Amino acid sequence: MPVAHTLEGPTSVDDVLGRQDPELAEIVLAERARQTTTLQLIAAENFSSPAVLAALGSPLANKYAEGYPGARHHGGCELVDAAERLAVRRAEALFGAEHANVQSHSGSSAVLAAYAALLRPGDTVLAMGLPHGGHLTHGSPANFSGRWFDFVGYGVDPGTGLIDHEQVRALARTHRPKAIVCGSISYPRHIDHAFFREVADEVGAYLIADAAHPIGLVAGGAAPSPVPYADIVCATTHKVLRGPRGGMLLCGSELAERVDRAVFPFTQGGAQMHTVAAKAVAFGEAATPAFARYARQVVVNARALAAGLAAEGFAVTTGGTDTHLLTVDPAPLGVDGRTARGRLAAAGIVLDTCALPRPDARGLRLGTAAVTTQGMGEAEAARIAVLLATALRDESAGRRVREEVRDLTGRFPPCPDR
Ligand SMILES: Cc1ncc(COP(=O)(O)O)c(C=O)c1O
Repeated sequence: MPVAHTLEGPTSVDDVLGRQDPELAEIVLAERARQTTTLQLIAAENFSSPAVLAALGSPLANKYAEGYPGARHHGGCELVDAAERLAVRRAEALFGAEHANVQSHSGSSAVLAAYAALLRPGDTVLAMGLPHGGHLTHGSPANFSGRWFDFVGYGVDPGTGLIDHEQVRALARTHRPKAIVCGSISYPRHIDHAFFREVADEVGAYLIADAAHPIGLVAGGAAPSPVPYADIVCATTHKVLRGPRGGMLLCGSELAERVDRAVFPFTQGGAQMHTVAAKAVAFGEAATPAFARYARQVVVNARALAAGLAAEGFAVTTGGTDTHLLTVDPAPLGVDGRTARGRLAAAGIVLDTCALPRPDARGLRLGTAAVTTQGMGEAEAARIAVLLATALRDESAGRRVREEVRDLTGRFPPCPDR
C-alpha cells in the first residue's frame, strides 16, 4: 500500500522515510498516531522535544567515537568531542556534580558501570528487593546483577508502603555489604539519601543512588538531589528528564577515572554520539525556568491523579506521591492489576502493572511526565482518574472512555509545533 498519501503534515523525515521505505514509514506513522491518540501514563516515558529528536536524527549518528574527548581510538572526532564536552559540562552544571559520564547506552548500562567501578564479582550488595520495587539490575537472578553479586533485599513496610528504614539498617549491620543501592522503579516518595549515606558510612559501604526515575525532577528542582550523598548516581535520560533514551553517571572527581573506565572500555564500545548530542540538548532544556515549572507541574498532576483515584476507591500505595509516579491497587473496584491494564488499554489508557507490597498482588503504576509535557494540568489529571474508574467499573463503558481519551489527547498534542 503506498504510504506517501497517508502522511499528514509531513516533516522531512516522514517524507524521506515514506519515499524510501514505505513499509517502515507506515509503522512509524502508526506509532505516532498511537502515541498521540492514547493516554501515555507509563511512568518511565515522556515526549522529547523536536530539538532532541533532531539531534538523534543528525549526522552524528554516522560517527564512531570509542574513548573520550581528546583520547579517541578513531580519527575525525574533533566535532563529536565538542558535542560530548558540551553534554558533560551541562550535566555537571545541572546536577552540581564534579564529574559526569554521558556515554551509558541505557539506565541498566549505567548501573552495570557503577558496579564495575566499585565492586568485584561475589561482593555483597544491599538493594531494594524486586517484589518491593527494585529494578532488574538490583539483583534479579535473570540479570547480570543477580548472577555476579550476592544481593540482599530490603523492602517496604506492608502497612504504610514506606521504606522500612530499620530493616535497611539491620540488614546492613548483619551483611556488611560492599555497596548499598537506593532507588526504585515504583517508589512514589522521596528517598532519604542522608539516611542511606549514614548507614553506608556506618558499615563501610559505597552508596549508589539509582535515580533513573526522579533525576528529571531533581534537574527541575522538584525532588531532592542524591548527588551530595551518593558515591555514584546512575540515571536514565529519557524519563521525566525528557531526553533521548540513554543513561548517565554522576560522581565526585576521586571516582571519575574509575567510572569512565567502567563505561569504556569495560562495559561498552563506541559511544552513540547522536544520543550524546541529544543528551546535551536535553540538559540545556532542563536548565531553563520552563523546565522547572514543568517538573513542579508533573508532581502537582501526580498528586491530583492520586487524590482522584483514591476518591474513586483505588487503594493508593503510601496514600499519595511526592514524585511523578504512583502505584495503586484496583482490587477495591473488583479487578486485578493485569485485567485492569488490558481493559484500560482497550479504552486508550496505557500504563504498566507493578508489584504491590503484599504477596502475589499486582497493581498499576502510573506517571504524569508525558501528559504534563502535553500541557495537561490538575483538572485533566482529575478527569483521567474518573476515566480509569469508569473503564474498570463498567466494561461496556470502554468505548465511551476511548472517545473521551481521543478528545482529550486531541486537545493536548505532545508538541504543538510537531
Ligand atoms: C530504577 C531503575 N534503574 C534502571 C533502569 C533501567 O533503565 P533502562 O531501561 O534504560 O536500561 C530503570 C528503568 O526504568 C529503572 O527504573
